[in-house]
Amino acid sequence: MDGYNQNLANEWIDWVETPDPQGAREKDIIPFIKNWLGELRPEVLCDIGCGQGIASELIDEKTKYIGVDPSQTLLNRARVLYPSINKQFIEGNAHGIPLENESVDAVVSIWVWSHLENLNSATSEAFRILKPKGKFLMVTANPETYEERKTFYKHYKIEGNLLMGDFDLGDGKALTDTTLYLHTRDDIERAIKQVGFKIYNIKRMGQAETSDKGLYLAIESSKS
Ligand SMILES: C[S@@+](CC[C@H](N)C(=O)[O-])C[C@H]1O[C@@H](n2cnc3c(N)ncnc32)[C@H](O)[C@@H]1O
Repeated sequence: MDGYNQNLANEWIDWVETPDPQGAREKDIIPFIKNWLGELRPEVLCDIGCGQGIASELIDEKTKYIGVDPSQTLLNRARVLYPSINKQFIEGNAHGIPLENESVDAVVSIWVWSHLENLNSATSEAFRILKPKGKFLMVTANPETYEERKTFYKHYKIEGNLLMGDFDLGDGKALTDTTLYLHTRDDIERAIKQVGFKIYNIKRMGQAETSDKGLYLAIESSKS
């Protein structure tokens, strides 16, 4: 899939903009990213698959934020929500980021990598745009909890390693026809390392009621 279609983008906007304070995103993931950015204080930050740009809320005023996403619906929403001289939202793809080589200090990508079939081409792009010693934070579905994750779908089908279905958000809402590539943890780590990143921390986060394994992995790596 190359970005969210308009229907899915609108469902996503609605879900993100009615946050659940008890949910994994609000309790674990957003504070973790905020802290990561607060310690790093990058001059230029690229957010791959930025959606409507919520990570741009987490930067300090000295950081230049560049959100990249293939969905015009999400980019338009981001521009309405975050009109600021130091925030740019540009059309692009994890496999083709419209930025110069070695032009950013940090890359974040939140809940995007599980939508990508070809991890290697995306990690190559993240590596290419980062300056030497630049940092990359990916937050993605934890392969250890795919079985649990399947229980969150109203219905789904699996073809090869691609799961497609309607993700149940509760209250009669869903993310319709959403995709999850069932990459293994080895696949993910190999894709990060094969381009030259050094992984220096992997943290499980977002506990499901049924598991202590965490629904997400935050993987921190460095271009050294
Ligand atoms: C679950 S949303 C996450 C959005 C945002 N990172 C957040 O956490 O609010 C997934 C995002 O990935 C984007 N996406 C899907 N395929 C992509 C690709 N090939 N390259 C870049 N972004 C992609 C979608 O358009 C969508 O904005």
